[in-house]
Amino acid sequence: MTNHDAVVEHWISERMSHIESSGIRKVFELAKSIKDPINLSIGQPDFDVPEPVKKAAKDAIDAGRNTYTLTQGIPELRQQLLQMVEAKFSGSNRDLIVTSGTSGALVLALCCVVDPGDEVIIFDPYFVMYPHLVSLAGGKSVFIDTYPDFEIDISKVEKAITKKTKVILFNNPANPTGKTYSRDTVKALADLASKHGVLLISDEIYSAFHYDGMLQTPADYNHNVLVLDGFSKSYGMTGWRMGYAHGPAKLIQEMIKLQQFTFVCAPSMVQYAGITALNQDMSGFMREYKLKRDFLLNGIKDYYDIPSAGGAFYLFPKAPGGNSSAFVEKAIQNDLLIIPGKTFSSVDSNFRVSFAAKQQTLERGIEVLQKLAKSFR
Ligand SMILES: Cc1ncc(COP(=O)(O)O)c(C=O)c1O
Repeated sequence: MTNHDAVVEHWISERMSHIESSGIRKVFELAKSIKDPINLSIGQPDFDVPEPVKKAAKDAIDAGRNTYTLTQGIPELRQQLLQMVEAKFSGSNRDLIVTSGTSGALVLALCCVVDPGDEVIIFDPYFVMYPHLVSLAGGKSVFIDTYPDFEIDISKVEKAITKKTKVILFNNPANPTGKTYSRDTVKALADLASKHGVLLISDEIYSAFHYDGMLQTPADYNHNVLVLDGFSKSYGMTGWRMGYAHGPAKLIQEMIKLQQFTFVCAPSMVQYAGITALNQDMSGFMREYKLKRDFLLNGIKDYYDIPSAGGAFYLFPKAPGGNSSAFVEKAIQNDLLIIPGKTFSSVDSNFRVSFAAKQQTLERGIEVLQKLAKSFR
């Protein structure tokens, strides 16, 4: 290490030593050496932003909508979103903030409610950002194991609640498991949070991607639930950075205050385009994604133990041999990119395979997955 490096290293916070670069990024690095990879590691839709939405963003730029906006979001977009929320949860007196991605909403929410030493309950497997954002807020993650079927055992959650518990972080449909939760589970979780005075945050960014029956939200059963959603997945706008949160007015006001001094606002032209996005019919894409889910599931279900497949665009099968990292290494040797379970979990038994891919890529992926499974028999 040079003297210069040592000086810089001295500046880096202790907090950063607990953050490892994402396992997903590592797979991308490995992928660079493969000429024609079968990429089923992707966490974003394979469709592009709808043309009218692109045009609305370009028009907004040309019209000079390039300045800061109101912190809480431009009134036209916020009104439309609030109307949607009001139609769904009438009489619940919810307020809403437009954020820089759903990630932005997560940062604001956790920083507004978590004090140093507070506990946040997270279901394992979890979305990669959750534990890091909890540490950023100074909190402590308390993990609840949901293996093997990713069901939530309410009695386990109740046992995990202590005087320090501030938040339960729930994700439905879930990344990486593809799990969608039943009305009974969602209601029980909402009731439990209410009974113990704990904030339930419901990350519903995959709300458009659910394939069997009605999607349940805990906000139907507990007015104090903070719901996070966004445009990234529903409209293929991952790079445009816009999400939103709705919940108790007092909490939303605090989030607006913090956004003012952090992100400032969601990108202006994206907010204008968001109004057009809300009026797009995306049902064709969602039907296509259900077919993709069926295709991948049917292609590998006789070869793998797949506990759930209700939503998002992932399956989280058990790795043959029980060691997911070793299995993923073999897959990569066969040009197939998937993500090892330890990226999302303290347990390295399952792997994430995404069906947000073209039909031909899915076909090639299924072929490799079948071949790999046979090699373990
Ligand atoms: C469960 C979950 N929450 C939040 C996000 C962040 O989404 P955004 O692009 O809106 O920041 C993602 C993205 O992968 C996700 O999977």
